[in-house]
Amino acid sequence: MTWNEIYQSRLVTAEEAIKAIRDGDKIVTGFACGEPFGIERALVEHYRDYKNVQIINMLTLGDSPWCEPHMKGHFTLNCLFASQSNRKAISTGICEFTTSHFYEIPDVIKNYICPRVSIVMVSPPDKHGYVSFGTTVDYTRGTTDYCEIVIAQVNKYMPRTFGNSIKHVRDFTYFVEIDEPLPEVKSLEITQIEMQIGKNCAKLIHDGDCLQLGIGGIPNAICAQLWNKKDLGIHSELVGDGVVDLLEAGIINNKKKQTNNGRTILGAAFGSKKLNDYIHDNPSVELHPIDYVNNPIEIAKNDNMVSINSCLQVDLLGQVVSDTVGLNQFSAVGGQVDFVRGATMSRGGRSIIAMPSTAKKGLISRIVPLIAEGSAVTTPRNDVNFVVTEYGIAQLKGRTLKERAKALILISHPRFRPYLMLEYRKRFNEEVFSSEELKTQLSDIKEQIENTVGDIKEKLLDDLKCLLSAN
Ligand code: COA
Repeated sequence: MTWNEIYQSRLVTAEEAIKAIRDGDKIVTGFACGEPFGIERALVEHYRDYKNVQIINMLTLGDSPWCEPHMKGHFTLNCLFASQSNRKAISTGICEFTTSHFYEIPDVIKNYICPRVSIVMVSPPDKHGYVSFGTTVDYTRGTTDYCEIVIAQVNKYMPRTFGNSIKHVRDFTYFVEIDEPLPEVKSLEITQIEMQIGKNCAKLIHDGDCLQLGIGGIPNAICAQLWNKKDLGIHSELVGDGVVDLLEAGIINNKKKQTNNGRTILGAAFGSKKLNDYIHDNPSVELHPIDYVNNPIEIAKNDNMVSINSCLQVDLLGQVVSDTVGLNQFSAVGGQVDFVRGATMSRGGRSIIAMPSTAKKGLISRIVPLIAEGSAVTTPRNDVNFVVTEYGIAQLKGRTLKERAKALILISHPRFRPYLMLEYRKRFNEEVFSSEELKTQLSDIKEQIENTVGDIKEKLLDDLKCLLSAN
C-alpha cells in the first residue's frame, strides 16, 4: 500500500477511533500545546461507555474534565505536572499525581505506568507520508513505539518541526482529522520586579553561553535583557515566545555549541502562535525526545551551559521548593533538577534559581528560615548555586551554612530582613551582621516597613523593634 492508502484506510471519526478503548485502559495523551482536545472531547461526551479508564497527561493548558464528579468510576486523571484546572482535584485526592524528573518521564510512562493506548496530536502527513509531532515531542512521540493503539488527531495548525519529531503514517492505528488552533501560552506584561530580576540574571550570562530558560514570568524578563549579548545558544526542555525576537536578530545563533551546533534544541514549544509560526518548517530549531534533551549528561556536553529556573520558596540553607505550597501540589519538578545538574556538570556552566523576593502581593517572603510544613524540596541545597531576586545575587556553592544564610538574607525583601535576622540568630547563636553592617541595612528596612500597609506592618515593626533591642 502507498502511504496515502494506509492513511485513508485508517482515517475515521473521533467516535469510531475511541471504540478501540476498553474498560480499565490507561491512555497517555500529548500535553500542553499538543494536547489532542478534539479526540478528548469525544471521550468526555461518551464517558458513560467507559469504566475505570485512566488518562495520563503531563500538563494541560485546558480544563480537566476527568476530575468532574460525574466522571467518578469512568475516568480518572493521572497528571505529572499540576495546573490551574486540576490543583484542587489533586489536593482533594480526586486526581492522581505522579512525580518524576522530566528526563525520566518517557521511561516512567513506558515501563512503570504502562499505558495500552496513546492519543496524540500531529501535523498532516508530508509528501513522503510522515507526520510531525510539532510542538510536543518530549515523551509523546515515543508512545507510538510501545502503545498497542495509537490514535492521532491530525491538525493543520500543528507546526511541522525538525529534529527527532516525525513518524510515518504506518505507525498509527487511527487518524482523526480535526483542525483547531493550538492552545497558547500568552506572555503577560513584564512587571518591574521581573525586569529587575532579569537584569540581575543577565549579569551572570556571558557572550557564547548556552541557555535553558524555565517557565513563568521571569524567562521573558531575562530575554529582554539579552540584547547586548552575542553568540548565545539554546538547549532547553521548552521555550516561550521571549526567545523568538532574539533568534530572529541572531543574538541567539547557537554558534558556540558543542552539540547540535547551529541548532536550537527543545523538547517542547510552550508559547503562542508567534513561537509556533517561528518553529514551523524551520531547520534551525529541532525538537527531540525529552530523555535526550533533559538528560543531564547530554546537557553537560555543551560548555558554559546556564540553567535559569524559578521557585516558590528557598530556606536559609538554600533548599529550593518549586512545585509544592505546603501539602498542595502547585506544579512539578519538570526539568528543573535535570538542568541544574546538567549546567553544574558543564565546563564553565552555572545554575540560577530566580524568583521575586516575595509572594502573595508582597505579603510573604519567599526566603524563609524553614520551608513550609508539607512542602517537598525540589532542588536540594547541594545542587543549588546562584539564587537571584530583584535585590541581587546570592552565590551558595562552597559557602558555609552561615554564609549561605547571610547571602540569602541580603537578597530577601528588606521588610522581612528583621525576621530572617532573628531566625538566623536563633539558629547560629550570633548576629548575622556586624553593627556597622546593620546600620547600612537599617534605613532601607525602615523605609520599606513604613511603606507597607495593612496588618502585616505591625508584625514587621515588632520584628524590627525586637531586632534593635537585641543589638
Ligand atoms: N507560598 C505561597 N504562595 C506562593 C509562594 C509561597 N512561597 N510563592 C508563590 N506563591 C503564589 C504566588 O503568589 C502566585 O499566586 P497569585 O497569583 O495568587 O499571587 C502563585 O503562587 C504562582 O507564583 P509565581 O511565582 O507567580 O509562579 P510562576 O508562574 O512564575 O511559576 C514556578 C513559578 C516555580 C511555579 C514555576 O516556575 C515552576 O513550576 N517551576 C518548577 C518546574 C521547573 O522549573 N521546570 C523547569 C523548566 S520548565
